[in-house]
Amino acid sequence: MASAALFFVLLALATMQPQTASSEKETHLKVYWHDVVSGPDPTAVRVARGAATNTSKTAFGLVTVIDDPLTEGPGLNSSRLMGRAQGTYIAAGKDQLAMLMNMNFVFTTGKYNGSSIAIMGHNAVFTKVREMAVIGGTGVFRWARGYAQARTHTLDLKTGDATVEYNVFIRL
Ligand SMILES: *[C@@H]1O[C@H](CO)[C@@H](O)[C@H](O)[C@H]1NC(C)=O
Ligand SMILES: *[C@@H]1O[C@H](CO)[C@@H](O)[C@H](O)[C@H]1NC(C)=O
Ligand SMILES: *[C@@H]1O[C@H](CO)[C@@H](O)[C@H](O)[C@H]1NC(C)=O
Repeated sequence: MASAALFFVLLALATMQPQTASSEKETHLKVYWHDVVSGPDPTAVRVARGAATNTSKTAFGLVTVIDDPLTEGPGLNSSRLMGRAQGTYIAAGKDQLAMLMNMNFVFTTGKYNGSSIAIMGHNAVFTKVREMAVIGGTGVFRWARGYAQARTHTLDLKTGDATVEYNVFIRL
């Protein structure tokens, strides 16, 4: 009799639904992304272009590889380095200046040290708010999904150097 009762307890436990929805956690993080194109130590390098890229008003076909610092505040040198944005952006708009962003936010400090977030999306750089998809993550960001919103903080039209505020909203 005791073993039959135990069997039903085990059966009840085995058929219980996992509580995924209620355990989902939302995280918001904000970093400043620094794209340094100019100077002796650029963090964004142009690696390829199409034959028509130079005459395109939108630089269509230009491929740039980045290892851009991510800082806590807007100052590149005055605020804490949180990690790096490593990846590429490609000028993918023929009529509009629009980038295909493909990058990992790789964190190197604090509670996110060693973890990363993968971002991919459409970035029409002269639009006030650009939204991109968070397509995954590693470490504490395993199973991440969500979105990132980019807002230009400063842009030097002469050098091309830019600081962009990224607000990332993820569920995991
Ligand atoms: C485009 O411009 C770059 C930089 O000024 C130059 O190095 C490159 O040779 C040019 N490419 C073509 C196809 O004209
Ligand atoms: C940050 O520091 C680098 C290297 O020391 C320097 O080249 C750059 O001009 C500084 N940038 C700003 C915005 O102060
Ligand atoms: C981040 O993690 C690495 C590897 O575990 C470690 O060497 C480094 O000291 C950590 N950095 C900080 C700022 O905690």
